[in-house]
Amino acid sequence: MLGEVLTESGLTHDIVKGSNMEQPENFEERIGNTSDPGRREQHEQTELPFLRNIWYVAGWASQFDASGPAGRTIIDEPIVLYRKRDGKLVALADRCAHRWAPLSFGRVEGDDLRCMYHGLKFAADGRCVQVPGQDRIAKSLCVRTYPVIEKHRVVWIWMGDPTLADPTLIPDLGLLDQHWQHLYFGNLDYEANYSLINDNLLDLSHVAFLHEKTIGQSVVPAAEGPLKPYTASGSAAKPVDRGVRVESWVSGPLARTVSLPKKVPDGDLWTRVDFLAPGILIAIDQMYPYGVAEECKSLPPGPERVSLCDSMSIQAVTPMTARKTRYFYSFGLRASEVEAGESDAIWQLAKEAFSEDLRMIEAVQRTIDTHPRDRMGGIAADRGLVLFRNLMKKLIAGETPPTAANNSPKHYGPRAEKV
Ligand code: FES
Ligand SMILES: [Fe+2]
Repeated sequence: MLGEVLTESGLTHDIVKGSNMEQPENFEERIGNTSDPGRREQHEQTELPFLRNIWYVAGWASQFDASGPAGRTIIDEPIVLYRKRDGKLVALADRCAHRWAPLSFGRVEGDDLRCMYHGLKFAADGRCVQVPGQDRIAKSLCVRTYPVIEKHRVVWIWMGDPTLADPTLIPDLGLLDQHWQHLYFGNLDYEANYSLINDNLLDLSHVAFLHEKTIGQSVVPAAEGPLKPYTASGSAAKPVDRGVRVESWVSGPLARTVSLPKKVPDGDLWTRVDFLAPGILIAIDQMYPYGVAEECKSLPPGPERVSLCDSMSIQAVTPMTARKTRYFYSFGLRASEVEAGESDAIWQLAKEAFSEDLRMIEAVQRTIDTHPRDRMGGIAADRGLVLFRNLMKKLIAGETPPTAANNSPKHYGPRAEKV
């Protein structure tokens, strides 16, 4: 249906209309202030509620060591994570059941976590197992636990109903487990709603302009013909299971991206970018000798093809609050010849590009917040983000909104029925 809507004529109007046409029925209940129609329309374009029944990236696995508890905020919920003696991670609500001191200020003792306000000790299943100065422990003294899984060098946390926490729903980030000659990880925090960061990653046509001085190549207006960004644009996006995909072949000088080491010869570059709910990007670039794109008839290269160079990036967008988001990124490189220091230089450029994204998106967020009733425009390259927003709206509309009753430790806690 969306493909029919995104035609050449009346594009701006039709994209917005197409988005509204596919609105899930009870979505309005989840977007907050719906009493002001102007505000509501704008809100839907810029900011989505949080999805709860989904695996979120809590961090790179290397960010959680045995030195002590680590506090995080994910979809407005303070969480504390720590490792047990066997290295397995535990995730609890970061709020002591007594006077609500952050448990992330506490101390790990064996497999347990002690609150360092008045000394209550909690087991990994959220039960209070010790109260200094008294023998009897009320059953209500428990904290909520969260399902947590370490996979593909990533820590995943399930923020919704734990009975629905299906590990097979974790996106396949097996690329991170492959052998890479060079592999880098990082993250930065945005003062912006997560939806805007997702939007940015769903249309890489911005690379030629926003990243002109870092990872992009300048697009100079030709004497004739349309000005065209060269990166796979969101206009080519197609739906995949729980996400959208953009893939393309690029040949000639424009295939020469900065993530390619200098000694890798020019050729045909295959690029695939998947973006999956709630905000997981899986990107792979593979350079092949000239002619492979034609032999493949523009389809993906088969496993029998030997690439000259592979690079990949896994990224994740984790909402902290409505205006704060943690953005995780990685970069892997594998090539026949990489000069000393070359991969570090590529990584440096990539990080500068991520800062360019941050500066732009935070500025957009500030404009949104000062003009809460105005509408944004639409172009063909928005196709990917419209598809993804509609998917998110559908998933969000299918959830039961949290209430004080169903979001309490009593509801999710280990001994709920016995309390
Ligand atoms: S607040 Fe944690 S022991 Fe009192
Ligand atoms: Fe960017």
